[in-house]
Amino acid sequence: MEKKEERGAVKVTILYDNFPFLSELLPSHGFSCLVEGEEKVLFDTGESGPLLFKNMELLGIDPLSISRVVISHEHYDHIGGLGYLLARNPKVVVYILPSFSQDAKREIKERGARFLEVERGMEIAPSVFTTGEVEGPVREQALVVKGEQGFLLIGGCCHPGAVKMVEAAALIGNGKIELLIGGLHLYQSSDEEIMQTLQGLRQLGVSKIAPSHCSGFAALDYAQKLWGENYIASGVGKSFNF
Ligand SMILES: [Fe+2]
Ligand SMILES: [Fe+2]
Repeated sequence: MEKKEERGAVKVTILYDNFPFLSELLPSHGFSCLVEGEEKVLFDTGESGPLLFKNMELLGIDPLSISRVVISHEHYDHIGGLGYLLARNPKVVVYILPSFSQDAKREIKERGARFLEVERGMEIAPSVFTTGEVEGPVREQALVVKGEQGFLLIGGCCHPGAVKMVEAAALIGNGKIELLIGGLHLYQSSDEEIMQTLQGLRQLGVSKIAPSHCSGFAALDYAQKLWGENYIASGVGKSFNF
């Protein structure tokens, strides 16, 4: 019998990132990734719509197959490509923070799409949840995805702090995050602050880590030392089967 892909497995592919991974894709400042489970959920859009679309084309991803878009926070390098996407696929539902600007809300409506303001622990699609709006210097939401190996968390920039984002996921499932992907916003932090965050993540039981975007080279270096073989090099084009 042909082996069917196991039910419950999800695939996460980084479509936009500062760091290179697949040489045919162009790295650029910003973040976006696609979560493929029962539905295709796009998390953030990078800064440039055309670049996001180019990367999707190179990876064989049809933008019209995306049904839901989650925007982590209202920074240009995460929401910048949204208008371009909505002009081409207005059928998506966009999940935003209640605190997003009226301009952002108006633009989504003007493009003919629908938005929902997230609440803590809200289900976006089967096995895909949001932390909801987390307070911080910049308010932000992270995505929590249930795969076969447990829960993974995808952060855009983690401006409220990566530890706080992982803690915010605690109400979803058993609260334990096996894999953390995305931006940790530690590129301007001191070595002490970086270590404090990374040790905090380890104390919360984060078993594997794949930082990128605004994490900073020093944080990548420390994470590699702390997680060893459970550190996963990430960047644009990297995919995770979880
Ligand atoms: Fe960012
Ligand atoms: Fe940001």
